[in-house]
Amino acid sequence: MSENVSSSTWMPVAAIDESPLESQGFVSLHVELEGTPPASRRFVYNWKSSNGLERGKTDPQRFNVFNFIPPHDGRFFLSAEVIDDEGVTKSAGSWVVIGDVDEEEFTRPPIPDESVEPVIQVDDVSMIFNMASEQFNSLKEYFIALFRHELSFKEFRALDHVSFTVRRGEAFGLVGTNGSGKSTMLKIIAGVLEASEGTCTVTGSIAPLIELGAGFDMDLTARENIYLNGALLGYRKEFIDEHLQDIIEFAELQDFMDMPLKNYSSGMVARIAFAIATVTEPDILIVDETLSVGDFLFQQKCQRRIQELIGTGNVTVLLVSHSIDVVEGMCDRVCWIEKGKQRMIGPTDDVCAAYRDLGQ
Ligand SMILES: Nc1ncnc2c1ncn2[C@@H]1O[C@H](COP(=O)(O)OP(=O)(O)OP(=O)(O)O)[C@@H](O)[C@H]1O
Ligand SMILES: [Mg+2]
Repeated sequence: MSENVSSSTWMPVAAIDESPLESQGFVSLHVELEGTPPASRRFVYNWKSSNGLERGKTDPQRFNVFNFIPPHDGRFFLSAEVIDDEGVTKSAGSWVVIGDVDEEEFTRPPIPDESVEPVIQVDDVSMIFNMASEQFNSLKEYFIALFRHELSFKEFRALDHVSFTVRRGEAFGLVGTNGSGKSTMLKIIAGVLEASEGTCTVTGSIAPLIELGAGFDMDLTARENIYLNGALLGYRKEFIDEHLQDIIEFAELQDFMDMPLKNYSSGMVARIAFAIATVTEPDILIVDETLSVGDFLFQQKCQRRIQELIGTGNVTVLLVSHSIDVVEGMCDRVCWIEKGKQRMIGPTDDVCAAYRDLGQ
């Protein structure tokens, strides 16, 4: 197996043991490695209080157990960075509640157990793009190189052995810094791109909100685009006739329906795209940053609509957002992808707390 594979087929899983707390005054974070663990690895442990004001970090060490002495009662996030001999870092962590602390109320869906039907199964997916390794100044130079078989390509792994399962009714978040492969992952799930390696299985109809304006013709009016985009989503004309008014009202663009889309602002385009995609209950709704161009009122309206869809228990949502607050407010589980590699997966609070630490 190549080095790449060995570094990517393991994931850390963290568990808290609170039992020593009463006797010795500390809690333990245990880290196990699932898959094929790297021959050597180091563990760096972090802890922080729920308001983020108190925090600490250990030096790299060999032990897979971290004994944390809480400075007082409260909620604390304990996490581990596991670093292999190639420098690949993966994270795992968990919140622990010490003493009597009011748990905040969450509006997210509960994490389903394993009996709930999986609707998206991403199994060891890699995406390799070929990038020309030379620069050509003209098309002529390019064709000369092409005919001389002098064209060479660099392989670029936009996704490197990513695996996760999403079950019916989940709101699953994907986070990661720019260029990490989130949109590429969504496009593979939506069937726009085919994975270079691995498999992706999807059950049910998908309403993808992937690239702003994809599926729209900028020269046509908003009204015409609703029919065009609706047809791409598989809606019949009669169905759109019936729901046209709902779509227009949701998008709040009553006065602009006969204006060509090219004169719309990007937020107005996003409103129409979101209104069309959610006029029915899709099995799977994919939202890639679409909301971020809308104003805060429209963002709130979209979030309510997504929560309504999740509330039915039938709709599964995949959400990519650079707003960690949005992800925290809506998702039950999150996968963190960093530079194409799966860095962490788990309950929203755990992954978001670890991801936020990137900026600290
Ligand atoms: N068609 C393509 N050909 C070559 N490289 C591509 C292609 N599509 C994406 N990439 C590369 O793959 C990497 C991942 O891109 P992707 O758009 O998935 O990132 P992202 O996580 O969505 O980033 P952002 O947060 O900026 O939206 C980037 O380095 C990008 O340049
Ligand atoms: Mg993207």
